[in-house]
Amino acid sequence: MDILENFSLQKFNTFHINAYAKHFFSFNSLDQLHEILEPERPDMRPILVLGGGSNLLFTGNLNGLVLKNGIKGMQVLSEDDNYVYVKAGAGENWHQFVLYCIENNMAGVENLSLIPGNVGAGPMQNIGAYGVELKEVFFELEAFHLNDKKMVKFSQADCAFGYRESVFKTRFKNQFVIATVTFKLFKKPRLNTSYGAIEQELQRMNIAEPSIKTLSQAVINIRRSKLPDPDEIGNAGSFFKNPEVPAVKFHELQEDFPGIIGHDLPNSLVKLAAGWMIEQCGWKGYRKGDAGCHAKQALVLVNYGNASGEEIYDLSEEILQSVQKKFGIMLEREVNIF
Ligand code: EPU
Repeated sequence: MDILENFSLQKFNTFHINAYAKHFFSFNSLDQLHEILEPERPDMRPILVLGGGSNLLFTGNLNGLVLKNGIKGMQVLSEDDNYVYVKAGAGENWHQFVLYCIENNMAGVENLSLIPGNVGAGPMQNIGAYGVELKEVFFELEAFHLNDKKMVKFSQADCAFGYRESVFKTRFKNQFVIATVTFKLFKKPRLNTSYGAIEQELQRMNIAEPSIKTLSQAVINIRRSKLPDPDEIGNAGSFFKNPEVPAVKFHELQEDFPGIIGHDLPNSLVKLAAGWMIEQCGWKGYRKGDAGCHAKQALVLVNYGNASGEEIYDLSEEILQSVQKKFGIMLEREVNIF
């Protein structure tokens, strides 16, 4: 079991930033993780656990230890009349897991097709797309506490899921390594085709009665048409969150900006389309050096080749400031900054 020193993380983050880890270790099992953490080595702190590296931006090198989670495995645990319980290793590729579910007629994750990253990152940020969030099919997870060196089970309630949020991004940040995630999938599909783009794509595909497979294909087509493939252009999906504002505030904004896009949430809140606001500020398609704002989706920042993490970060800061100036709304970054 080798700990690698001064190791380039370029291949391990979808922004393809060439940051270095002082110590790097890739593990495939909890036994290997245990071994590497015993005895305690203060020079190997802080610890950063990497999954698919698809929701982070490195703005410098990392001291301490970077752990690459490669725990694999996908298995059906049990089933009843309505549900199938499936457990997956955190190091499994998310989209491969979605395909496995579709192949085996287990429904609920089809709208989450083609999201980059690994299974472990799913609950971490409650991944969501096209009207569905991971929390809707989440059953429980097992995670390893880095200090206590013990496994802990988290139920749906324990995870405190919110919009791109969970306890693993807040209260328990950097404290746990998610090892396995168990999903509760539907035997009889409950297709969610309510998202406008999906309806249009299904029509274009000439599909009147979608299955989980064709719905997944529709999602894949939409994502491919709008979002850059991280294997071709470095990016981490949406860089910012869509802000939630009181409905009253939304109506005020509508008076000044009649085209503003928002959709109603419970509790008299409205979720604003940050991509639209960024586009209105003139950033869509903007490029400075190798850092840019994607030409087809302004919420996505991109690395065309050799941008540094700082350059991407500085661009995000300029975008934040200009949206604040024009709309009086402070956007929040969705991507984790290191
Ligand atoms: N829009 C613009 N200009 C843009 C981008 C968007 O006017 O440059 C408008 C669109 O026309 C649409 C609205 O904004 O009316 C919403 O756009 P879209 O459907 O593309 O979704 P989004 O709100 O920009 C969110 C998620 C995505 C997810 C899509 C689909 C967040 C932060 N992002 O984006 O998630 O794929 O909805 O559900 O919530 C991610 O988290 O990394 C991610 C890609």
